[in-house]
Amino acid sequence: MANENKLQNLIGHCKEYGFIFQSSEIYDGLSAVYDYGQYGSELKKNIRDYWWKSMTQMHDNIVGIDAAIFMHPTVWKASGHVDNFSDPMIDNRDSKKRYRVDHLLEGLADTWNQQADVAEAAGTADLASSLRDKAAELIATTEKLMADNDFEGLKTLIESNNITCSVSGTGNWTDVRQFNLMFSTEIGSVAEEADTIYLRPETAQGIFVNFLNVQKTGRMKIPFGIAQTGKAFRNEIVARGFIFRMREFEQMEMQFFVQPGSQKEWYEHWKEARMKWHLSLGISPSRYRFHDHVKLAHYADAACDIEYDFPMGFKEVEGIHSRTDFDLKSHQQYSGKKLTYFDTDINQHYIPYVVETSIGLDRMVMLILSEAYHEEDLSTADKQDSRVVLSLPPMLAPIKLAVLPLTKKDGLPELAKNLIAECRPHFKCFYEEKDSIGKRYRRQDAIGTPYCVTIDHQTKEDGTVTIRYRDSMTQERIALADVCKIVDEHTKMF
Ligand code: GAP
Repeated sequence: MANENKLQNLIGHCKEYGFIFQSSEIYDGLSAVYDYGQYGSELKKNIRDYWWKSMTQMHDNIVGIDAAIFMHPTVWKASGHVDNFSDPMIDNRDSKKRYRVDHLLEGLADTWNQQADVAEAAGTADLASSLRDKAAELIATTEKLMADNDFEGLKTLIESNNITCSVSGTGNWTDVRQFNLMFSTEIGSVAEEADTIYLRPETAQGIFVNFLNVQKTGRMKIPFGIAQTGKAFRNEIVARGFIFRMREFEQMEMQFFVQPGSQKEWYEHWKEARMKWHLSLGISPSRYRFHDHVKLAHYADAACDIEYDFPMGFKEVEGIHSRTDFDLKSHQQYSGKKLTYFDTDINQHYIPYVVETSIGLDRMVMLILSEAYHEEDLSTADKQDSRVVLSLPPMLAPIKLAVLPLTKKDGLPELAKNLIAECRPHFKCFYEEKDSIGKRYRRQDAIGTPYCVTIDHQTKEDGTVTIRYRDSMTQERIALADVCKIVDEHTKMF
């Protein structure tokens, strides 16, 4: 299936089966803002739980917090977001449409790469390779100009490549300008006394400002980490790719505080550990790659992205950043409060260095859904047939077990409900008695339920049920008494 089709089909599927809806849909939606439905919110919660447990339960030296979204406005001065958290933008004078400059240029590079795929398929390898080189050079030039804040150079690059607006079709561009991505609001009820505050654009700062609170109250010894999940907000100008780039989204971040000088080693450690976490979901390594940052942000001494092969191509899902002591040092300076740690191992006070792992929860939901979504042709010589199945990792599936009585009578619903009552405290179940068994199986396939159990007349005779496996669609008879234990064992996280 072509990637563009796959994305559109996935978006349609998410809506049809209660995973993800456009926000305020009855008012025609709000751009780049989405709501999670009954199955989407379960899937998202399961991913969040898996990350949270992997960090806080599986590591003695990582604890979790839940900091407020609103923070003192000086936090964002100290973090550099007030002055630096902006993207170069350009407007088309005819359509009045605003674009992120790097997205316009990346879009052209993507087109050249797609043309290269077509050329390769047509056997013109030389053309394919020259198109790929051109795309790589464009990306490299863009990255350099962005890093140098060379706005004139960026505009020239857009014009010299004849990039036009997708709405007006013209190349009538304004100059490139910076646009801050933070949302602001006011705190306090009397307008004249109200202070401007920001909706946090990353959760990390809530961790930095609580560093000493947690270290002291938890008697934490370096190296240690603080983990947090929560909403973040960015006024993204160009929202693209469904829930890939949103204005309101959720992050799962962990700041790992280390001795100065050991950051390189910990950076490598977390790079490897985070990739292992992704692969632990059963996803092929070929779907992932690292992208090392060549030009580093002013606070970083090393940084990379973990990229996944989304339907739009390889894109960032997680960042690993060695942030030095920039944030703590800056908060110490702006707040006037000491943020040093006394290391009893070396008898020294210092401001710790930080290695951060930062993953977007919504992006992870999109990754899991893209990976799991399959349209299968099941036609045989006599019959046309197909199904859409979400082959979700069982531990992440919204529903773990569907219990389906073959008929609505003869005591079968009662047996089914007894089984649900037994399983419900352990994992999420679903009961359904309407429609044929085949239709009920297909509905469960579409929401990714790994196990369906059918209760039939034989159940009353010998205490066995049919268990049906989502991915292979095979069925076998097992003891009713074993269902809860089997499903629990195969769907738990650890
Ligand atoms: N504290 C570091 C930080 O925020 P980032 O690379 O800007 O780093 C980290 O963001 C992760 O947050 C990204 O890898 C991505 O998964 C997610 N993310 C960032 N902006 C997003 C957006 N507009 N919509 C959805 N997810 C986003």
